[in-house]
Amino acid sequence: MVEEVAGGWLAELLGLPTGVSVGFVTGAQMANFTALAVAVREVLRRDGWDVESAGLWGAPRLRVLAGQGRHGSIDRALRFLGVGGAAIVPVDADDQGRMRTAALRSALDQGSGPAIVCAQLGNVNSGAVDPVGEICEVAHQHGAWVHVDGAFGMWAAASPRLRPLVAGVELADSWATDAHKWLNVPYDSGLVFCAHPEAHRAAMGIRAGYLIHGDAEERDALDYNPEFSRRARGFAVYAAIRALGRQGVAALVERCCGLAGRFAEKLAAADGVEVLNEAVLNQVLVRFLAADGDHDAHTRRVVQRVQQDGTCWMSGTTWQGRAAMRISVSNWSTDEDDVDRSVAAILRCAAE
Ligand SMILES: Cc1ncc(COP(=O)(O)O)c(C=O)c1O
Repeated sequence: MVEEVAGGWLAELLGLPTGVSVGFVTGAQMANFTALAVAVREVLRRDGWDVESAGLWGAPRLRVLAGQGRHGSIDRALRFLGVGGAAIVPVDADDQGRMRTAALRSALDQGSGPAIVCAQLGNVNSGAVDPVGEICEVAHQHGAWVHVDGAFGMWAAASPRLRPLVAGVELADSWATDAHKWLNVPYDSGLVFCAHPEAHRAAMGIRAGYLIHGDAEERDALDYNPEFSRRARGFAVYAAIRALGRQGVAALVERCCGLAGRFAEKLAAADGVEVLNEAVLNQVLVRFLAADGDHDAHTRRVVQRVQQDGTCWMSGTTWQGRAAMRISVSNWSTDEDDVDRSVAAILRCAAE
């Protein structure tokens, strides 16, 4: 079955243990939702509570420890699941948005009961990567489930050069990523993996008399998604990996990171331009300094002008309270010439 083959390739590329289950969902939002649904059910089951029949009413108090730099889709997934915002324990992050392991340890020490830790590989602004191996070690010492939101950052694992950034990723319990970001397949293609296939199936699976289900040992795609009807997302993923191969995927990821580094270097060298992050992955945050001191307003104006100019498209963002331009390099066709033309256009817009 295509999903099984593509899922096996993905697990290998992303450095996950063999035997993980995989679901092909719409994006990282739904991958986070699916994984957290499995996690909530499983940590409560281990605590003697059956979410299936009792729901969350009267359940043991659940804590979800997540970095301050987490993506909003984590909070949104928890909202969908009926896990209130009060259950979220924000864990201190460093200036790049990386969760601090010591802060996680002390937060875990301060409570008890079922817990889920959400690590992140790839901050949506800075691209920063949480120390996932350390996080897994500390979380597992406390009996917590570790979910990794690796929407784009998990693809660092596909590159032998970048893999050290995500060392220990294989130790987590569940993972969310996208194929429609760095693998460049069409939108509507997210992936959820789980180190506990039984729990994954138990949380997501369903049987219906009008459907044809496989034999007990056979994979049924319905068991790994919060969906009934859906398109065959596995084919695009299969085709992309088949065409690129292991080295092609690694080259794609490394090329994008190299180009982000080129953006950072060229922009940082220009007068009145500040690069706010360590460009460790494919993201660059840029701030434009104004003569009148209103750098926020100037930066927003530059972003707007760049969008109108049309040479390239960059979004604006707010990073640690400051306006910034957010550059994200993930397209397979972007090359050095694109970067150089884009830098020239950005600097032109900044000088206007
Ligand atoms: C870290 C992170 N998580 C989740 C998401 C949501 O992904 P999607 O748009 O595929 O649902 C994003 C999107 O950029 C992200 O960067």
